[in-house]
Amino acid sequence: MSFSRVRTLVTGGSGFIGSHLCERLLANGHEVLCVDNYYTGRRQNIEHLLANPRFEVMRHDITMNLYVEVDEIYNLACPASPVHYQFDPVQTLKTSVHGAINMLGLAKRIKAKIFQASTSEVYGDPHVHPQTESYWGHVNPLGPRACYDEGKRAAETLFFDYHRQHDVRIKVARIFNTYGPRMHPDDGRVVSNFIIQALRDDPITIYGNGEQTRSFGYVDDLIEGMLRLMATDDGFLGPVNLGNPGEVSVRELAELIIAMTGSRSKLAFRPLPADDPKQRQPDITLAKQKLSWTPRVDLREGLERTIDYFRPIVAAEAATRPAHSGSPKITDRLPIQPEEMAF
Ligand SMILES: NC(=O)c1ccc[n+]([C@@H]2O[C@H](COP(=O)([O-])OP(=O)(O)OC[C@H]3O[C@@H](n4cnc5c(N)ncnc54)[C@H](O)[C@@H]3O)[C@@H](O)[C@H]2O)c1
Repeated sequence: MSFSRVRTLVTGGSGFIGSHLCERLLANGHEVLCVDNYYTGRRQNIEHLLANPRFEVMRHDITMNLYVEVDEIYNLACPASPVHYQFDPVQTLKTSVHGAINMLGLAKRIKAKIFQASTSEVYGDPHVHPQTESYWGHVNPLGPRACYDEGKRAAETLFFDYHRQHDVRIKVARIFNTYGPRMHPDDGRVVSNFIIQALRDDPITIYGNGEQTRSFGYVDDLIEGMLRLMATDDGFLGPVNLGNPGEVSVRELAELIIAMTGSRSKLAFRPLPADDPKQRQPDITLAKQKLSWTPRVDLREGLERTIDYFRPIVAAEAATRPAHSGSPKITDRLPIQPEEMAF
């Protein structure tokens, strides 16, 4: 990666993935403008970057127009976990669709290259395993997940139409399950849930018998893939899958986390939710070919770093209020609670 002074806009820069991206871009010499409306993003994710004179933060909602001068745009703004994106589905869809239109319009005006953080959810409940980029997916357009899945699909369409119609330089990545430090503690994802439950010595909730498998990519690997995609020739647009094809059963994951945290937690089995999506596993052949990219961080190492991140947070929580009393959070106002949802 060269040390040129590229001016880079990161939407959703205060979120989990966005904050790691801002950090890497700064390390690579970019000037970074982080734009976020703090819907799920948090200042603490980026506060260690604020002293850097090449880092700037703007509170802004990308469903509104934005006029800035940059060379590159990474469009990450969008709540990513079902708990958060189902809280306000209309806003989720607006963020994906209006946000894409606004960011693509900006890219067109200022001739910037633009990256879209798309998702494996565009494959829906797939009939093809593992999923290759040529698979068109199997998405329910009417269900509670549609605001996210269809929003991201429409955003991909917009990206390709802006490219065909207006020659905008686009890069589309389909990101699979990613974990790591700065995941939102309340987002109900399996890795953060298990780690938090284990650190509290609470029962670890497993749906079904736990034999179902999942694949998880560590955030540093994802960021490397995103940067490599952005650096490809203008002729390569994607979409390209970025994820870790390694599989682990949910039960194995829980047992590993219990062992690594030295927890006294026991496994608590609950019925599998009806809409539990079948396993999604990335086929990363294209990323290997086009980006010379492959995930490097193995599960144990990634979990270690993530546990190190959550340990002081859970300890501080235990010290400041009675166990399990909870604090007001976005999910408290949800019609359904995370444990009733499928991830
Ligand atoms: N985490 C994953 O496993 C995963 C998987 C596939 C795709 N993605 C995609 O990657 C991107 C980042 O995901 P994440 O896990 O960091 O989620 P996140 O919720 O931590 O980050 C999203 C960020 O976008 C901001 N945001 C939301 N709506 C906005 C709006 N209208 N205007 C400005 N900012 C807004 C939020 O405040 C937050 O900072 C998302 O687009 C998501 O769809 C993530």
